[in-house]
Amino acid sequence: MTTQLISFILLAGILLGRWYAKRDRQKHILLMYLFVGADILLVLFLAAFRDVLGKVKVEMSPLLYFHIAIALAVVVGYFFAITYGRRLDKGDENSRKKLIFVDRIVIPLRIAVSVTSLFFIGG
Ligand code: HEM
Repeated sequence: MTTQLISFILLAGILLGRWYAKRDRQKHILLMYLFVGADILLVLFLAAFRDVLGKVKVEMSPLLYFHIAIALAVVVGYFFAITYGRRLDKGDENSRKKLIFVDRIVIPLRIAVSVTSLFFIGG
């Protein structure tokens, strides 16, 4: 329950940061670093220590594999988004369409991560 809640709070922060992209560049950058950074830490922490914490009560179902796979794909996508975001910030307009492309994949996948996490409440 706690991890699902944190996951949704971080998602809300990321969506807020994204909302600022066209409104306040500095706020956008700050919020993305903050929430995307925390999100990466959460995913890596859960991937590495979930078993250690003895939280694996559910069997490794296909849905759990799917959930973990998209969560890791999102982390990879974040690195591309940060790379293109930094380049765009330095004035490389070519990075804008690449960032938008990554954004269109990463954000829906990130929403799917939070939604599928609900199936593992108590697990
Ligand atoms: C997961 C992380 C990120 C996502 C999903 C994301 C997404 C977006 C989106 C959708 C836009 C609007 C592009 C447009 O329609 O023109 C944007 C703009 C921008 N982003 Fe990000 N971004 C992320 C992280 C970052 C980071 C880390 C930086 C810089 C260090 C950054 C710098 C910028 C800049 C400079 C703009 C252009 C703002 C403007 O037009 O004034 N982004 N971002």
